[in-house]
Amino acid sequence: MISKRANRWTEDDAYLVRAHFTCETDPFDSAENPDGYVNFGTAQNHLVFDTIAPLLRESVEIVERDTHYNELHGAKYFREAIVDFLQNWAGRSLEPDSIVIAVGASAILEILSFALCDPGDTILVPTPYYPGFDHDLAFRSDAVLEPIHLRGPEFRLSITDIEEAYTRVTSRGARVAALLISSPNNPLGHIYDEELTRQMVDLADRLGIHLILDEIYAESILPRMEHYSGLRIRNPRLHIVYGFAKDFGLSGYKVGILHSEDPEVLKAARILSYFHTVPVMIQRTLTGLLRSERLEEFFVTMRSRLDTSYRATTAVLAGQGIHHVPVQGGIVLWLDLRPHLRSITFEAEQGLWADIFNECRVNISPGNAFHCSEPGWFRLCFTVPDDHRVEGLRRFGEHIKKR
Ligand SMILES: Cc1ncc(COP(=O)(O)O)c(C=O)c1O
Repeated sequence: MISKRANRWTEDDAYLVRAHFTCETDPFDSAENPDGYVNFGTAQNHLVFDTIAPLLRESVEIVERDTHYNELHGAKYFREAIVDFLQNWAGRSLEPDSIVIAVGASAILEILSFALCDPGDTILVPTPYYPGFDHDLAFRSDAVLEPIHLRGPEFRLSITDIEEAYTRVTSRGARVAALLISSPNNPLGHIYDEELTRQMVDLADRLGIHLILDEIYAESILPRMEHYSGLRIRNPRLHIVYGFAKDFGLSGYKVGILHSEDPEVLKAARILSYFHTVPVMIQRTLTGLLRSERLEEFFVTMRSRLDTSYRATTAVLAGQGIHHVPVQGGIVLWLDLRPHLRSITFEAEQGLWADIFNECRVNISPGNAFHCSEPGWFRLCFTVPDDHRVEGLRRFGEHIKKR
C-alpha cells in the first residue's frame, strides 16, 4: 500500500513519457535500425554535441574541495560564473546571492511553486503550455494551474486575457499566487517583447501576484529575432527560470537556475534546494563552460544550425501542405493538423497521434497534452539529427497523404 498522494501520482497515465522511452529503446539508425522510431516528441537539441563536447572536456577539473559538501543551492564560484553570463542579457550587474541552482528547470519551478503557493492557490498559465508544468508546479505543491486559453491560428497573448483569467479565479473565491510565462514559448515559438513583458510585470505588481518567467530557450533564437529578458527589469515579484537543458543541449546534466530579487523567496528557495542539489563536479564543469572563451562561438554555431534545421523542416512541411505558427525562438514547431483529423475532436486528435506513432514509428506530441483548447494542433521538435529529420518527415508525409 502506498499513500493516497503517491497513488494520485502513479495513476497519471504519462503516455508521452512512455512514448519517449519507447523511442529511446528502439531508435532510428539509418544503417543499424532503419525501421526504428524517429522522436520529434521530446524537446532536446541534438545538433550541438560535437561543438559542446570539446568545451566540456576542457572544463573537467578534479578539486578536493568539490569532493565535500558545498552550498546546497550552488557553489559560490558557479553562481558567480552564472551571473557573469546572465549579465549579458540583463544589461546590469546581478548578484550571485540572487541565484539558486537545482537539478533542472523543473526542480526550480517546483521550488517556486512551494515557495509562492499554499495548497489550492492558483497559478495562471496561457495554453497551449509545456506539459511538464503540470508535474513541476502542481503535483507536489498542490497548487492549481488555471489555463488562459489562447486561440489559433496565432495563439497571441494579451494583457486582457490575463486580467480576465485573474477575475475568473478570484470571483470563485480562490487566490491567485502567480502567473507563469514561457518565453521563447514552448510550444508556440513566440518571444514576448519588452512592451508585453513590462505590462505583465506591472500587472503582477498591481494584482499583488508573482510573475515566473521561464526563459530556458533564451539563446535559441532565429535570425533577426531578439529575446527580451525579464532580467532587464528589477522587480522582487519577477522570478526568472533558466537552465542548461536546451540552449546548451545538456538536458542530461539536469541543471536549472533561479534568479530572484525577493529575499524571502530566495531564502525559501535556498532551503528547498536541499532536496534538489546539483552534484558539485557538474557545477565545476559548467563553470568552466560558462567561462570558456569559445562560448559565444558555440552559440553562433548553435543558432546557425537551429536556423538550417528550421528552414529544412518547414520547407518539407510546406510541400506537404502543413501550416505552423511562425517560430521566433525555441526548438519546436506548433503544427496545424486540423485538416487531417477525421473529426474536430480530441478523440480524433489522439487517434491521429496513435496512428502516426504506431504505423509510422514517428513521435510528435498532440495538443491536448498541452491543454490546447482547439483539437488538431501538434508539437514537433525540429532539432533532431538531420537523417532522423529527413526519414521522420518522409514517413509522416506519406501517412498524411494516405489519410
Ligand atoms: C519551458 C520548459 N521549462 C522547463 C523545462 C524542464 O527543463 P529541465 O530539463 O532543465 O528540468 C522544459 C523542458 O522541456 C521546458 O520546455
